[in-house]
Amino acid sequence: MATLAPGVLLKLLNGMNTGVKPTSEHRSSLVQLTDIVPADLDEKNLWPKHGAAVKSKKTQASIFHTIAKMADNNTTTTLSHTNRLQGKVAIITGGASGIGEATARLFADHGARAVVIADIQDQKGQKLAETIGSHRCIYLHCDVTDEDQVKSTVESTVQIYGQLDIMFSNAGIVSSSDQVILDLDFPQFDRLFAVNVRGMAACVKHAARVMVERRVRGSIVCTASVAASKGTKRRVDYTMSKHAVLGLVRAASQQLGEYGIRVNSVSPYAVATPLMCENHGKKAEEVEEAFAAMNPLKGIVLKVEHVADAVLFLASDDSAFVSGHDLVVDGGFMNHTS
Ligand SMILES: NC(=O)c1ccc[n+]([C@@H]2O[C@H](COP(=O)([O-])OP(=O)(O)OC[C@H]3O[C@@H](n4cnc5c(N)ncnc54)[C@H](O)[C@@H]3O)[C@@H](O)[C@H]2O)c1
Repeated sequence: MATLAPGVLLKLLNGMNTGVKPTSEHRSSLVQLTDIVPADLDEKNLWPKHGAAVKSKKTQASIFHTIAKMADNNTTTTLSHTNRLQGKVAIITGGASGIGEATARLFADHGARAVVIADIQDQKGQKLAETIGSHRCIYLHCDVTDEDQVKSTVESTVQIYGQLDIMFSNAGIVSSSDQVILDLDFPQFDRLFAVNVRGMAACVKHAARVMVERRVRGSIVCTASVAASKGTKRRVDYTMSKHAVLGLVRAASQQLGEYGIRVNSVSPYAVATPLMCENHGKKAEEVEEAFAAMNPLKGIVLKVEHVADAVLFLASDDSAFVSGHDLVVDGGFMNHTS
């Protein structure tokens, strides 16, 4: 039986990244270990030289199950720890709903010191902040079309929490009409660009400024879309705006690299959020069914949590050398030719 050094086992139990690729043989030693480590045992009594407390029995059990599953699936990835944002301070625009909401919850679950939800839906945002917990989450009203509001949201975050490590610039809208080129409505076009392009750039600008000032090697993530890289039969304005997001990410990543700041985007396929359901006039299940039928990856439906996982990767040190990248979360849709 392959055994793991006590220090590595302890790290695994505490959900830390060890770089160890779990195998089915490690599973046996983990079974033994979780059997012998009693709940709330002070680690000092077990392995005095490693000096950290063993996590609760519940956490141990959930980490053990992850490792066992990875071993069973013969996975080639290394185990990543559960507190991937330990001590980090993040702003999430459009954080009151959909993808932003799921990401706010995930960031908090991953040990973020503070998550600032910046949105225009005050009631929804405040309620979410309360649910996540006022000790690590607050809501700030911020209309991203107003640069002063973006600036003051960033400044308030730094005043309250001392720094800013992550900006998830995610707020976005779609126009209410089809916006095909022959009937393009410019007031709607302008409104959409004010949020999806100008607002996105304002968030990157002001987050980057405080990161540079305070010498923080931060991570900026923007929400683009599969519509950022292909033509669409409707919504010229939306498609143009998301192409612009990729331009912003590519240029900003070049310019901010010298400060150690990374800028990336996440590009989801259709996911049944209020934005999507309202625009299609359909219920979540109907949206999911319609778009699952067009996706090459079967047996799974895209959920906001899948997108949040990709954002977490880009926001955390797991992607320490990734910048200027567009991470598509599309089930292979963009490569699908038939
Ligand atoms: N849902 C999808 O299928 C899909 C696919 C690709 C990309 N996206 C993008 O994902 C992002 C999030 O959208 P979602 O699907 O979670 O929709 P959503 O409507 O659930 O969330 C969008 C949030 O942005 C907020 N918002 C709108 N205008 C704002 C403004 N001016 N200032 C601050 N906040 C504002 C809204 O209040 C809302 O809380 C958007 O950028 C959208 O374009 C969505």
